[in-house]
Amino acid sequence: MVKLAIAGGTGVMGRTLVDVLTTQSTHKGIVLTRKAFKSETAIPHVLVDYNDVKALIKVLEEHEIHTIISAFGINGTSLSVSQANLIKAAEKFSVTKRFIPSSFAIKYPESGTQILPPLQSYFDSLDLLKTTSLKWAVVHNGTFLDHFFPPSLKSRYNHGTLVIDIPHVKAGIPGSGDELITLTYTLDVARFVIAALDLSKWPRELRVVGETLTFNQLITLAENATGKKFDVRYDSLETLKQSRITELPGHMNDYKKCPKEVLLTFLSIFQRWMAEGLASIPIEGSLNGKFPDIKPLTAQELMEKHWKSL
Ligand SMILES: NC(=O)c1ccc[n+]([C@@H]2O[C@H](COP(=O)([O-])OP(=O)(O)OC[C@H]3O[C@@H](n4cnc5c(N)ncnc54)[C@H](OP(=O)(O)O)[C@@H]3O)[C@@H](O)[C@H]2O)c1
Repeated sequence: MVKLAIAGGTGVMGRTLVDVLTTQSTHKGIVLTRKAFKSETAIPHVLVDYNDVKALIKVLEEHEIHTIISAFGINGTSLSVSQANLIKAAEKFSVTKRFIPSSFAIKYPESGTQILPPLQSYFDSLDLLKTTSLKWAVVHNGTFLDHFFPPSLKSRYNHGTLVIDIPHVKAGIPGSGDELITLTYTLDVARFVIAALDLSKWPRELRVVGETLTFNQLITLAENATGKKFDVRYDSLETLKQSRITELPGHMNDYKKCPKEVLLTFLSIFQRWMAEGLASIPIEGSLNGKFPDIKPLTAQELMEKHWKSL
């Protein structure tokens, strides 16, 4: 049995991990949170102050935490202060042996800090982990498949529009559309990561692959499922490098949460990495191979089962 602490277990990926943890009885866990939170689950929520390393150590001691999964969103001080202090506390408490820093995405290019400065705190966390005796691994799952979900399908991810706007039958594809991208359902990411608690050794990357395909293939699947011909535009790498992308009708709704200029620039960075072929996760050595009984939802199944009927 592994005693697990999910830091940021009140967020999208964190709550999905909690969802999976509650479906099994082998491992036990707590959620670390900065705010009083009415838990929907039987997993205890423990209030913490991430600025106080000594207090963090006490929490780890009290709950005999062996493994920490950080599911912080990447913002402001979440990684530079909160995650860094959690790593320091984990290193000091002898029972805590393993740490997953917030990742759950692609293998970010180190040069990415030039266009996305907050990524620096991500790489700083990895550098800090390298100085510790902790066993640690990042989770690489590509892009969340949930971006292409119909509203009827269960997901903790209240996502915006990304590349293919299925309800409006339009798409703004990064690059040629023939670059491979890995799409994985958040629930499947969590299922594989919780299963990985059973492994005696972790590779440096915990890879999880829902399905790897191209955007052109995804468009064909969407067209076949909906029976509609999509209006497809392509954004060249040069366009993406100028922080420009094809604006889709679904983006208008997303501007309510994030100003247009900020959102389109942010999306252009991720779409640039997609066009550069950086968004696919190798299946070799992945958790899929270690846990063949876990069958992740594929993009093909998503389209055939969940968009066809709408
Ligand atoms: N691959 C993809 O397509 C994709 C998409 C989205 C996100 N992601 C990645 O998934 C990971 C988790 O993201 P998410 O969207 O699940 O996160 P989120 O919901 O934005 O945040 C998770 C939790 O982090 C905690 N938090 C936020 N700021 C904090 C701070 N300064 N200090 C301490 N805790 C803080 C909050 O918990 P409390 O308030 O309870 O403390 C929050 O509920 C990130 O690494 C993100 O980049 C990947």
